[in-house]
Amino acid sequence: MLASVAEGGGSDLHGILTINNESRKVSTSEHERVVKHHYDSMTEGFYLQWNPDHIHLRLFEPGECPGPDEMLRDSAGLARAVERMIEVVVAPAGIEERHHVVDAGCGVGGTAIHLARTRGCAVTGVNLNELQLEIARREATDAGLDGRVGFEYADCSRSLPFPDDSIDAVVNIESACHYSDRGRFLREVRRILKPGGRIAAQDWMARDGLSATEYDEYIQPLCEA
Ligand SMILES: C[S@@+](CC[C@H](N)C(=O)[O-])C[C@H]1O[C@@H](n2cnc3c(N)ncnc32)[C@H](O)[C@@H]1O
Repeated sequence: MLASVAEGGGSDLHGILTINNESRKVSTSEHERVVKHHYDSMTEGFYLQWNPDHIHLRLFEPGECPGPDEMLRDSAGLARAVERMIEVVVAPAGIEERHHVVDAGCGVGGTAIHLARTRGCAVTGVNLNELQLEIARREATDAGLDGRVGFEYADCSRSLPFPDDSIDAVVNIESACHYSDRGRFLREVRRILKPGGRIAAQDWMARDGLSATEYDEYIQPLCEA
């Protein structure tokens, strides 16, 4: 299983990959290849067990959580919990109908489709995983949103395929943890956002000051699984 962090700066950037509990330094392109491969191999599992449209955490209210023997995908509160999470994350971006939004690391397109449906805005999702892009395009077509939602290949660690000052909001959900160069991603976000544009992001992070015991208890299991 995979965990990845970026390290270094400028042209020396490389990632540290932890696969099956063994960490090693790798080049940026190797880092990207492994992340792609990870999502190639995991997408079907996410689809069958988690949720067909979203690959991110959910905000369940008390009483909504699936029971111990219940498959997450089948739980009654799943759709509400997924949308609640998106709404909490994107609220500060103040997305409106007239906006062009970029969903960076868009998975299979669930957030892009949700935003286009609920706000009426235009959304372009970008991702480096071709399998997920293909699913996202199909879902947008099935939802009748072809004119408003599009999906493009992009590696967010390198560049975002949009002109300067052209985008109103960037949404980035549980994706930047994989980037080999997050500084470059944020510079690209700044370049493409119009003045006053916003990024709304959510990711997995360890809080500061964790003890070794807490690290072993809470962080290491995530890196392993
Ligand atoms: C945990 S999934 C989240 C997907 C989506 N944001 C969602 O909420 O459903 C992480 C996503 O980031 C994408 N990703 C990882 N590294 C990337 C990169 N360097 N550039 C673009 N997308 C990337 C993966 O392919 C995957 O779609």
